[in-house]
Amino acid sequence: MISIAVLGYGTVGSGVVEVIEKNKEVIDRRAGEEIRVKYILDLRDFPGDPYADRVVHDMNVILQDPEVSIICETMGGNEPAFTYSMQALKAGKSVCTSNKELVANHGAELIRTAKENSCNYLFEASVGGGIPIIRPLNAALTAERIELINGILNGTTNYILTRMAEEGSDFETSLKEAQEKGYAERNPEADVEGYDACRKIAILASLMTGKTARYEEIYTEGITKITREDFLYAHKMNQFIKLLASVREVDGKYYAMVAPFLIGEKNPLHSVNDVFNAIFIRGNTLGDSMYYGRGAGKLPTASAVVSDVIDCAKHGRTHIVCLWDEEKLPLCSIDGASRRFFVRAKKGCEKEAESLFGAIETVDAGLDGEFGFVTPSITEKEFAEKSAALSGFISRIRVEED
Ligand code: NDP
Ligand code: HSE
Repeated sequence: MISIAVLGYGTVGSGVVEVIEKNKEVIDRRAGEEIRVKYILDLRDFPGDPYADRVVHDMNVILQDPEVSIICETMGGNEPAFTYSMQALKAGKSVCTSNKELVANHGAELIRTAKENSCNYLFEASVGGGIPIIRPLNAALTAERIELINGILNGTTNYILTRMAEEGSDFETSLKEAQEKGYAERNPEADVEGYDACRKIAILASLMTGKTARYEEIYTEGITKITREDFLYAHKMNQFIKLLASVREVDGKYYAMVAPFLIGEKNPLHSVNDVFNAIFIRGNTLGDSMYYGRGAGKLPTASAVVSDVIDCAKHGRTHIVCLWDEEKLPLCSIDGASRRFFVRAKKGCEKEAESLFGAIETVDAGLDGEFGFVTPSITEKEFAEKSAALSGFISRIRVEED
């Protein structure tokens, strides 16, 4: 029998316990041994819960119990999650986590510590919720030089954008619904300002290159400036607004960013709706591949954590190789990246827009006092200069090429 402990009995942690109970037979068979939840660490007690008697409030109880060999860290945040994870690994206990903030901040160090102590630090649930993406990158796409990762990596924002696009719902109501469904971060600013997607693309960029991509260096824009009017223009152009997170390699240099984009029907990401996420990966010999599923929520995320528990159970004290070094990955500024931009501007400045940007394609969404246009492909830097000079400038969204 393998005894495990769950740190944090919230949305994901309670899901881990539920998945282990619900799929007990298949999980035990695949793990090769019975998995039982021996402890649940939380700040609160859970009177009436079937697992109430397993709840402890002192991490030392878990650390000092030699029967516990695997720990699920589903508390979130940097501390005390980092300290507890390091203590567990140094005691030879494997850690499986959904905590992308911690993985993005300390992934390489935690993996190294796991290796030094012949155990594992696994984090399948940290990107894409229930979508298998870490394991494919580490174990299946290993023959590839990956050129591009582009994805919808946040369930909350994709849920909000879908509600706004399909039902004309307002931002605040859609966010509240996402929170009620257990998709959002404790501080939902992390979702709507793009920080969560940024941490996730930093994790994927680190696995893509084997070096540490610092999320603080990734250009990040959230969805808080997207309005109802933007969807009217998008609809008119037969386009969809999605928060995309990407990292690409061009001539040995790496570019990463997170921002809302207009995407067309030819882009497979256009039909990824609600809480679903998708990650598009282009390898130099494989070509294109895509990974799709529920990007947030209790059971899908818990399923990914439990898949790591099974992997740890199967590997015992054997370290599963994960190439992610502490050396920093140099990331280039996006200033030189070229693309088209969709711009909303006040009526009357059509000529000015044309003289600044050249051959623009105008869009009429029937809105009073304004019009829209799409620029030819120009660099981010040029666009920033020209849009600052446009007297009637209202807002802009980047356009993703198909
Ligand atoms: P919750 O807030 O629902 O759960 C966290 C739990 O941990 C709470 O019960 C909390 O207690 C407890 N906790 C917090 N600090 C401590 C501590 N010091 N000691 C013991 N227990 C503690 O969060 P989620 O389950 O939603 O998320 C957990 C992690 O998983 C986060 O890193 C999140 O980003 C990530 N994640 C979440 C997904 C989702 O869909 N929700 C999907 C993928 C990843 P209390 O409430 O009393 O503070
Ligand atoms: N808040 C996150 C999201 C949870 O909405 O995607 C999953 O990481």
